[in-house]
Amino acid sequence: MDKRARMAELVALLNDYNYAYYTLGEPKVSDAEYDALYDELVLLEAETGEVLPDSPTQKVGAKLSGRFPEHRHLVPLQSLDKAQTEEALEDWARRTVRLIDEANRARAARGEPPLPNPPAFVLEPKFDGLTVVLTYENGRLTRAATRGNGVVGEMILETVKVIPSVPLSIPATGGTYEFQGEAIMPRSRLIAYNEAHETKLANARNGVAGALRNQDTREVRRRGVDIFFYHVNYASDREFATHREMIAFLREMRLKVTPYSEAFDDLQALMDAIRRLEAERAALDYDIDGLVVKIDDIAVRQALGSTAKAPRWAIAWKFKAEEAVTRLIEVAWNVGRTGVVTPQAVLEPVDIGGVTVRHATLNNIEDIERKGLRFARGRLVRLRRSNDVIPQILGLAEAERDESESTAGHPAHEIVPPEVCPACGTPLEREGPFLLCPNSLSCKPQLIRQIVHFAQRDAMDIEGLSEKTAEQLVDAAIVTDVADLFQLKAEDLLRLPRFGEKKAANLLEAIERAKRVPLDRFLFALGIRNVGKEMARRLAEHFRTFQTVAAASREALTAVEGVGDVVAENVLHFFNAPHVQKTLEKLFRLGVVPLPLEDRATEAGALPLAGLTFVLTGTLQTLSREEAKAKIESLGGKVTDSVSKKTDYVVAGEKAGSKRAKAEALGIPILEGEAGLTALIEARLKANEVRL
Ligand code: IVH
Repeated sequence: MDKRARMAELVALLNDYNYAYYTLGEPKVSDAEYDALYDELVLLEAETGEVLPDSPTQKVGAKLSGRFPEHRHLVPLQSLDKAQTEEALEDWARRTVRLIDEANRARAARGEPPLPNPPAFVLEPKFDGLTVVLTYENGRLTRAATRGNGVVGEMILETVKVIPSVPLSIPATGGTYEFQGEAIMPRSRLIAYNEAHETKLANARNGVAGALRNQDTREVRRRGVDIFFYHVNYASDREFATHREMIAFLREMRLKVTPYSEAFDDLQALMDAIRRLEAERAALDYDIDGLVVKIDDIAVRQALGSTAKAPRWAIAWKFKAEEAVTRLIEVAWNVGRTGVVTPQAVLEPVDIGGVTVRHATLNNIEDIERKGLRFARGRLVRLRRSNDVIPQILGLAEAERDESESTAGHPAHEIVPPEVCPACGTPLEREGPFLLCPNSLSCKPQLIRQIVHFAQRDAMDIEGLSEKTAEQLVDAAIVTDVADLFQLKAEDLLRLPRFGEKKAANLLEAIERAKRVPLDRFLFALGIRNVGKEMARRLAEHFRTFQTVAAASREALTAVEGVGDVVAENVLHFFNAPHVQKTLEKLFRLGVVPLPLEDRATEAGALPLAGLTFVLTGTLQTLSREEAKAKIESLGGKVTDSVSKKTDYVVAGEKAGSKRAKAEALGIPILEGEAGLTALIEARLKANEVRL
């Protein structure tokens, strides 16, 4: 069969399997079968150098560079009025009946048929996520944007494309459509994420926001971000008579629609359903912060119109935040990775909306005072759980305010903030409402975090230095500051559990490689407060050499674009600290060289493979391994030996073995031989042009 025809066939087939798997949740084929077809498509795309616009290979994701451009919505997005009581909902319903009556009188005068009154209602979940709007033109997904201020949002097309259930093409070949939906992160994924990551997400909503605004579009897959659609904002060549038709159309377009959408003819039945859903809410795998009641009939919607900010034809039923009362047993003080010591309430376990709560955050010492909790140890407190992972303590329970018998037998104690760091014993400092452990370099939790930050890809880029390893090194007292990493010996590592010859050698090699580091990454690696990647780059570009940055005066610092008093203060404070100076001296003595910007051969950002890590396996056709490596590196990419989560692509030649299998297991895209690599380079060159 002709290669192009086969490609079209494979794209259609794979998209159909994707739809069955991710949107309907009813897989049609086994993973192995899917993978075989997928591999065949990747190969054909590499061979022909052509990629169909809706090919599933376009859903893999990549690193982005730069900001998300603005996007003006075709139709401004509205918000919803709220009701929290049955009366408020009835008021709204009565008002709509009156308005429809008025509209019907006018219609009768014009000889038009009346609108249905009372109208039918539709009830849907109010998803607690992030609103997104997708545009399809002539069947293709062409734009995707966040809500922003309702008029202008951010363009996040590349990110949205990576969400598995989002189709790149829809079965409507003409016209322009804008669909509105809510991007969510499933609760199960939030729990898994928080178990695996040190920096926890407070709630699923934050998880989605972080994923959508991430420079690495693959983050949406890692967090399981999905979109539920509930509205057609615009359709150039189609009209809907009812909301139900609209939802049916969304479904026909193979979008994932709101899993619950039920119509009701009378208010009582609607109210019963609201109560039922409110009770069932804890069982859902996604957060909802209420329900939305909408009028089904579109002509009625048009007759009702909108107020300045919200349609009159819909109302949000907001759930009351769930509250409970329980006893505050103890307050634990934990050192965060940035040295902030936070109070955490240990509670008598209590059920709130189907979830057992054992801990709550107390934020900081001022918060404890403000909420009147200074003497709350051993007493009953009022808790609220919104969709946050960590519930909040609101204050003392009613019963406690007038010292009723509930306190009897439970003597109240003062919550006394610690004077020294609970992890390392260093006297704590007060900074505004926060308690801070100043021992940033050898306080254990801080040190572990410092090492992980130091080693990350955008900093020193020490591959293989995971959080687990950092913990092991600190626990075994082999590493007491980041400079110690550069005097690690194989025998140090071999003494640690789970360290074999190979792993130790790899880590040492990675550490050796990291010694020559571009200045901006080095500045970022140092973990100066308020100096992120972008700020580090500005400092490096302005001052060019490490010595000039370290010696810069306040005036010199604030002269740098974007550097204000706070950053300048932090930079000065950092370089003046004796322990910092000691560590820096040690780093330089052990061979670390921050490369002045002039010495960088090329500006890596502009190269097509910048930021990507490759692993080569198997025999390539014309290039030797070394030549392929040189080629990738000359284009800004990096080549490493072993396949890990950090690998972006595996280039597989003939007789590729276990590395290929590992890549497949990790879901890392595989480029078939040189042809695959060339296709990628060309695609990235093209993408660069588009971006420029
Ligand atoms: S309908 C024109 N339905 O909640 C469409 N909105 O607080 C008007 N939301 O702006 C919105 N779930 O972003 C609708 N099932 C749902 C929703 C929903 C979540 C969001 C939406 C809206 C906000 C109002």
